[in-house]
Amino acid sequence: MANVFIIGATGGVGRRLGRLLVQSGHRVIGLYRKPEQAADLTEDGMSPVEGDMIEMTPDQLADAARGADVIVFTAGAAGSGLDRTTAIDGDGPAKAIEAAGHLGITRLYLVSAFPEAGRQRERKSGFEHYMAEKKRADVAVAASDLDWVILRPGTLTDEEGRDTVTMGPAIMYGAIARETVARALHALIEQPSVRREIIELTDGPTPIKEAVAALRQG
Ligand SMILES: NC(=O)c1ccc[n+]([C@@H]2O[C@H](COP(=O)([O-])OP(=O)(O)OC[C@H]3O[C@@H](n4cnc5c(N)ncnc54)[C@H](OP(=O)(O)O)[C@@H]3O)[C@@H](O)[C@H]2O)c1
Repeated sequence: MANVFIIGATGGVGRRLGRLLVQSGHRVIGLYRKPEQAADLTEDGMSPVEGDMIEMTPDQLADAARGADVIVFTAGAAGSGLDRTTAIDGDGPAKAIEAAGHLGITRLYLVSAFPEAGRQRERKSGFEHYMAEKKRADVAVAASDLDWVILRPGTLTDEEGRDTVTMGPAIMYGAIARETVARALHALIEQPSVRREIIELTDGPTPIKEAVAALRQG
């Protein structure tokens, strides 16, 4: 069983992932920043730890993650401003890499973004900045010596989750429910032999277990 530290544990993907991990017997530490969120995480079976990624140093992040052997980064500024996007989506994963180094943690899962996201819409500078920061984070993670997985889901929805996906190093762009992303992440965390891979993810017909097994064989 893994001890998983989730950065973004109160978010759409993070909270769903935390619940799934707890239900299958893993220990989960969830980072939160608003006092009222602690009770929600406790109710879900996670151990809440307070901290704000913008202010936290890698040392403080390591203190929060103490006891973990896996880090999941699924936090995001969610369109709350360019500087916050830089500090959370862009700089956050690098802090997580440093914290992992302090603690001897080797496994890091980063929820990133699908490169083709938003291409069909009018270009807005905030979104372009977000995509550039997501890529900057991917580069930092891929250059680290950790056993990382970069997951790039398509556009996220709050529809009901599914147990099937399309998943692979290069797939066509599409949407996917946050619950399905959480299920896919859960399956990946339970399959540590899938590592040092960039994985694109959308709704699709392949059972998650089969999709993850195919990655492992590949
Ligand atoms: N929206 C899309 O279509 C899309 C597509 C692909 C990938 N993604 C990425 O997928 C990931 C998960 O998305 P989501 O929809 O689950 O995101 P979300 O619901 O917006 O959750 C974001 C999480 O980040 C946390 N966070 C924000 N600022 C923070 C800070 N300063 N310190 C610590 N935590 C902070 C939030 O905490 P609070 O609860 O305190 O706000 C929340 O837990 C994000 O990285 C997102 O960029 C999104």
